[in-house]
Amino acid sequence: MDEITTIAPLRERIREWRQSGLRIGLVPTMGNLHGGHLTLVDKALADCDRVVVSVFVNPTQFVPGEDFSAYPRTYAADCAMLKARNVDVVFAPDVAEIYPDGPSLHTQVAVPALDNILCGVSRPGHFRGVATVVAKLLNIVQPDLAVFGLKDYQQLLVIEHMVRDLSLPVRVVGAAIAREPNGLAMSSRNVYLDEQQHDQAAVLYATLTAMAERLTNGEHSLPGLIDWGLDQIQAAGLKPDYLEVRRAGDLATPQAGDEDLVIAVAAYLGRARLIDNVQVSLATPGLHEG
Ligand code: PAJ
Repeated sequence: MDEITTIAPLRERIREWRQSGLRIGLVPTMGNLHGGHLTLVDKALADCDRVVVSVFVNPTQFVPGEDFSAYPRTYAADCAMLKARNVDVVFAPDVAEIYPDGPSLHTQVAVPALDNILCGVSRPGHFRGVATVVAKLLNIVQPDLAVFGLKDYQQLLVIEHMVRDLSLPVRVVGAAIAREPNGLAMSSRNVYLDEQQHDQAAVLYATLTAMAERLTNGEHSLPGLIDWGLDQIQAAGLKPDYLEVRRAGDLATPQAGDEDLVIAVAAYLGRARLIDNVQVSLATPGLHEG
């Protein structure tokens, strides 16, 4: 496995692969790798001849007051995990390589259809930072396939939207959410939780699955269902940011007749902001707002 930190030699390597007709996969990450990231890596390895994993803690997607400098950086351990997986290249640039004129002067990619709802409300500018860095990584690597986790559901939709709008020649693939034994979605930010908080955080997935079950069992009142879910989360000691039932395809408010939904949550616990979601397919749609 090669570790490459600058764009020029990475492009050279990729040019060689392309000339040999190899199929290339990219898995963008911010490092501090866990089982969720490895699911993505395995998906890319299964579908591609060569796989690049990027490890870059992207400053432009952290809004003021967030944990950019404290974000867990475990580069040596990350490389050991990726090497054991037979990843071909780790691309780990520094901030100056990605933003040579500094992050604030850089051209930005915005996806206005999706970036000011749900997580975009409490993290203004976050998805612009994500879309910008992912557009750059896609242009640097020019992969056939790029894999993203369903854990960050809104992020995945933002990236799919951007790829479509900018006609980027890549297939974006979503990978299922990897969870801890208690149901908590794996996340780099789980290191901020102590043992008790780790137990408390199980309420998120438990609440989402209970809400999904109630929806599939014919519960029709979204406001009542959401209030119930918020109560569960608060009773466990978490501070909800949002809990919403949305249309899976575009995160719009569901209308009667919509069958494919996503229940998405964000909540604060100690120093951590946790997100999770479950998708629901209704056999007999009958939702209404009242
Ligand atoms: P990061 O949080 O490191 O996540 C990298 C990828 O792993 C994302 O696609 C994310 O959705 C996925 N992932 C994280 N936890 C997961 C889990 N429990 N199950 C499945 N997939 C999971 O997301 C980012 O980095 C950044 O925003 C990035 C896309 C790299 C742009 O900077």
